[in-house]
Amino acid sequence: FAASLAALDTSVPPPHRVPRTTTPMPPGAPFRNAVDTDPAVPEHRAWASALLERAARSDEGARTLAEHTVTDERALDAVLASTQEAGRAWGAVPAAERAAILQRAGDAMEAARGRLVEVMVSEAAKTVDQADPEVSEAIDFARYYAARALELEAVDGARFIPAALTLVTPPWNFPVAIPAGGVLAALAAGSGVVLKPAGPASRCGAVLAEVLWSAGVPREVLALVQVDEDGLGRRLVSDERIDRVVLTGAWETARLFRDFRADLPVLAETSGKNAMVVTPSADLDLAVKDLVASAFGHAGQKCSAASLAILVGPVAKSKRFLGQLVDAVGSLEVGAPWVSTSRMGPLIEPASGKLLEGLAELGPGEHWLLEPKRLDREGRLWTPGIRTGVRRGSAFHLTEYFGPVLGIMVAADLDEAIAIQNEVAYGLTAGLQSLEPAEIGRWVDGVQAGNLYVNRGTTGAIVGRQPFGGWKRSSVGAGTKAGGPNYLVGLGEWVRADETA
Ligand code: SER
Repeated sequence: FAASLAALDTSVPPPHRVPRTTTPMPPGAPFRNAVDTDPAVPEHRAWASALLERAARSDEGARTLAEHTVTDERALDAVLASTQEAGRAWGAVPAAERAAILQRAGDAMEAARGRLVEVMVSEAAKTVDQADPEVSEAIDFARYYAARALELEAVDGARFIPAALTLVTPPWNFPVAIPAGGVLAALAAGSGVVLKPAGPASRCGAVLAEVLWSAGVPREVLALVQVDEDGLGRRLVSDERIDRVVLTGAWETARLFRDFRADLPVLAETSGKNAMVVTPSADLDLAVKDLVASAFGHAGQKCSAASLAILVGPVAKSKRFLGQLVDAVGSLEVGAPWVSTSRMGPLIEPASGKLLEGLAELGPGEHWLLEPKRLDREGRLWTPGIRTGVRRGSAFHLTEYFGPVLGIMVAADLDEAIAIQNEVAYGLTAGLQSLEPAEIGRWVDGVQAGNLYVNRGTTGAIVGRQPFGGWKRSSVGAGTKAGGPNYLVGLGEWVRADETA
């Protein structure tokens, strides 16, 4: 046994190199999604554990972040001026050249998969199984938007004029994939970019920028800026030179941008309160698995999370189903993200007032099937919770808590389940578990959400296959979907060729 362990040790590759052949995409190759690390492969597991050890004490990105922290108005002004100017020149670079740089960016992110995972684990409290697919998604954005960039030049009689300067303000919950999506879309379209990472995950943004620069994205065209949000942040978002904002965050934040500058086109993906409906025809084992992943992945801190299960008719009375669900959720190991047995990590910051209120106040008829417990002093580490008896119109039905809690609601039939789903103000993702084609058809026609998933979890949209974006209060502004065919068009304008001589 000792001998085999020793053999394993020497086979562990340095954690920043991926233990498999990376497949760079030659220009013009058809788009294919990047492949996640596979925990069933021993070398991949060894790679992940070496990486976790580093993540526990990593300060990846700290230096770059410090270099790009802007604390006075003059410095901010200089960054905006130079990025705008570089952005104009970048827009004149042939799309094929921009696309080639994006392809290299995809390959560079694949080569840096370990660094990107490491910084997400260490700073953003993501477990490896959550962080690794995020790198795949970022790579996909590079390759997918590279292909779409070429299409921007292919229309007869019309020319695409990119925005000169796009501000990308991502959230902390997908601190690599979401900024990568915004930045790469803007670069593909031909715009200069100011990336302002989310405060609690800003090292992740810095490492991403380092990787993109190393792939040949010009530093003048992609500026990394860290500012204090209440101070210079306001100055940044209201600057007249910014032509577009790509924002992912709370609906209220997106509205604030509008208040700062009414004329500013915003591409915003905002909040969600998403449900998964389980009908009596469902594969109930699959429903348990998908619910657990959708509600508790990254401790429920996803706008796409399913934080409600709507059980139709007899499903609500199925002791077997409820028993399995409670067992599965109750057995999720909670702990530090760099401990390999942790299935759920801590919240990125101590539980918000809204979440604490949601946990503390039981509405009429509600009770815990599994009561969440706080495991640390700070209020970041919680065991997962399931609350049942949630009624239509209650706070638990309508509020986005962004934490590891699932509410259970009951519907007499599918129509009522759809009505319950549609009563929320948001419309981001929605899930259905059903093996009945007629039910699936009715649900797809009736439910108001941007991303509908049947017999699959509600999180982890795949670039190019499941363009991502919502309805209602889940989007603000030019709501084209990220990772879909029309996204780049929002980052500029088509004009008739004869108007632009
Ligand atoms: N795109 C992510 C998902 O689908 C959410 O932002 O889960």
